[in-house]
Amino acid sequence: MRSLIDIVDFTLEEVDELIATACDIHQNPQKYADACKGKKLATLFFEPSTRTRLSFEAAMYELGGNVIGFSEASSSSASKGESVADTAKVISCYADIIAMRHPLEGAPLVASRNATVPVINAGDGGHLHPTQTLTDLLTIYREKGRLTDLTIGFCGDLKYGRTVHSLISALSRYHNIKVVLISPKELAIPEYVKSDVMDLNEMHYFETDSLDEALPELDILYMTRIQRERFDDLETYERLKDSYILTCEKMQEAKGDMCILHPLPRVNEISVAIDSDPRACYFKQVLNGKLIRMALILKLLGETDKVESRDEGLEHSEFCCANPRCITSVEQELVPKFRSVELKERVYRCIFCEKDAVLKEEK
Ligand code: CP
Repeated sequence: MRSLIDIVDFTLEEVDELIATACDIHQNPQKYADACKGKKLATLFFEPSTRTRLSFEAAMYELGGNVIGFSEASSSSASKGESVADTAKVISCYADIIAMRHPLEGAPLVASRNATVPVINAGDGGHLHPTQTLTDLLTIYREKGRLTDLTIGFCGDLKYGRTVHSLISALSRYHNIKVVLISPKELAIPEYVKSDVMDLNEMHYFETDSLDEALPELDILYMTRIQRERFDDLETYERLKDSYILTCEKMQEAKGDMCILHPLPRVNEISVAIDSDPRACYFKQVLNGKLIRMALILKLLGETDKVESRDEGLEHSEFCCANPRCITSVEQELVPKFRSVELKERVYRCIFCEKDAVLKEEK
């Protein structure tokens, strides 16, 4: 059985096939109207969402299927202390496929290891958001006609921006992608994304805190929100929240065919006046999200007999994960597992959240 936890669970060819299916669904919706008749999708959202949850639900209805689920942790038995593993086992008795969003990093991976139906990661804390990535790739493909030979600027919260981490990971497999990372120092891209993804794949990237300097070079500008909910310290949030505001005046410096993407929700980082600029693609992105999630549901329900090939990691009793937002830090009965990465020296990463392992006595 296949699940989608990280975008690299799918090969490049599989991602391209999903994009092709989404384009066909857009052209011929009637062909797919009964494709999931009799099937149920469970949307388990432990964190707020508008687009991801409702686009999954719309996708399943448009495929002729049904939807069950909840939209906040407080209305589920998680509020009584039920573990993610038990929740996944239980929901597998009711639904054919699960889409899960959770504030703890690695929660959907835990669900996929315990469910007997496919699990889709609909966003786990500040870690990954692979279905947003599929949405972004489809949007870039439909707007630019290609997924190669592009200069892409990521701007805003690159530290906690799970959509950024997943999209960089996906783009690292395409030819001649140049990445410009635009953020304040406090919200810079995590080191593991640089070393394990960009350096390892010899991706061309450049870090700056100046949107003005980067803008004229970009084919795509991927704006992100500074996420209040990820800050432990509200003073830092207040200081950083207005770091970047894209205005019509700034857009005069951008290429005439540059695309502005944003996973949304937006707060104030893109001026509303830009919405009528033909380069603003973020509402087209929303429609693409439904199309690609339809393609994804079809793919996973059609591959329940296939075997997952993910690195399951190994137990190292001397290590624990240092990340307080990792599911292993909160659900104490989970056995932490680690994979080794050969960089300049061998390092160990938690398989649930990808942060560094530390010696237990150092935590
Ligand atoms: N892009 C995105 O994940 O939006 P929601 O949080 O509304 O689902």
